[in-house]
Amino acid sequence: TQNFPFRQLPESLSQPRKPLFHSCFQILCLCCLLLCILSYTLYSSPAPWLESIPPLKHYSKQFTTLTTVAPTGPQYHQAYAPNYHFIMDNPVVCKSIFPFLVLMVPVAPHNVAARNAIRQTWANSRAVQGKVVLTLFMLGLSGRGDDGQQEKLKQENLQHHDLIQSDFMDTYLNLTIKTMVIMDWLATRCPTAPYAMKIDSDMFLNIDNLVIMLQKPGIPKTNYLTGMLMWNRPVVRSKNSKWYVPEEMYPDPEYPTYTLGMGYVFSNDLPGRFVEVSKSIKPFNIEDAYIGMCMKMLGLAPTSPPDPWQFKAYNTQYNRCEYSKIITYILGSSEELMKYWTDLKKPGPPCQD
Ligand SMILES: *[C@@H]1O[C@H](CO)[C@@H](O)[C@H](O)[C@H]1NC(C)=O
Repeated sequence: TQNFPFRQLPESLSQPRKPLFHSCFQILCLCCLLLCILSYTLYSSPAPWLESIPPLKHYSKQFTTLTTVAPTGPQYHQAYAPNYHFIMDNPVVCKSIFPFLVLMVPVAPHNVAARNAIRQTWANSRAVQGKVVLTLFMLGLSGRGDDGQQEKLKQENLQHHDLIQSDFMDTYLNLTIKTMVIMDWLATRCPTAPYAMKIDSDMFLNIDNLVIMLQKPGIPKTNYLTGMLMWNRPVVRSKNSKWYVPEEMYPDPEYPTYTLGMGYVFSNDLPGRFVEVSKSIKPFNIEDAYIGMCMKMLGLAPTSPPDPWQFKAYNTQYNRCEYSKIITYILGSSEELMKYWTDLKKPGPPCQD
């Protein structure tokens, strides 16, 4: 039966054995208990003599930072992705279609409107410029009272086979966890894909231009991260900003060079290395700068795209000719995405001259 190994263990332990074995076991238990009590008292109130030993002092400091959680404001979170588990998955999708490029879209569980707009626009075809492109959505756990939402998500995934869900709380301050879980998924489920992109759900993506860009001569096949580059960005210390990061989380006044989180593209050898190196980087809630930090720790830096102007952030006005040339733009709504996409794809040349 299913629980066979669990049942077998207690039974074998309850067998009357030699008395010698019994007493040895009891002594061992006692030692374990003593060790537990000792380490607990040491960590909860480090003895003065402990502080004078450098390595131990360092360790006890680290321990207290990880366990001390402020009741309000940003919390320390653990960004080591293997700590979390996929509760909804499409684990073999890369083994059946071998994509050239995987688009990973972090999205809130309830935001089915954004997912549907993307499915009807830049994710509506798996064949792009002669290459296979796969689009998947990454979700965490909904914080709201789960009124049948999980069941709806299951149905949605049965229909589209494009949802990945992990068991962390899906909140704004947990976006770094979400990104690192995306990296973990790519490394473990899709290692054969040459390229991947993390792209936000409010984006216009000219997928054809991206696939064309990735096939240009000179585009690196490894250690490659590109997008809209951010240099010498100061860390926001004003408490009411969306991007506020306290000094305890990130002490340096500036971030390392990073690519803006709206959409960055990378060679798929990097995700596994990001996950590995994230073990030794203190997490902070700015996911794109965190990836910049991972790059720095790996001794790497982001690369400018062949045509840097193709990665655009905020747009002022839709222009068909311009949208036919760019790769990204941040949009205001899913309606805009569908409207602009339909217009771009209508027959006739997008540019007049
Ligand atoms: C982040 O996710 C973890 C794991 O689910 C959760 O314990 C924590 O409360 C979340 N933090 C925030 C700030 O939402």
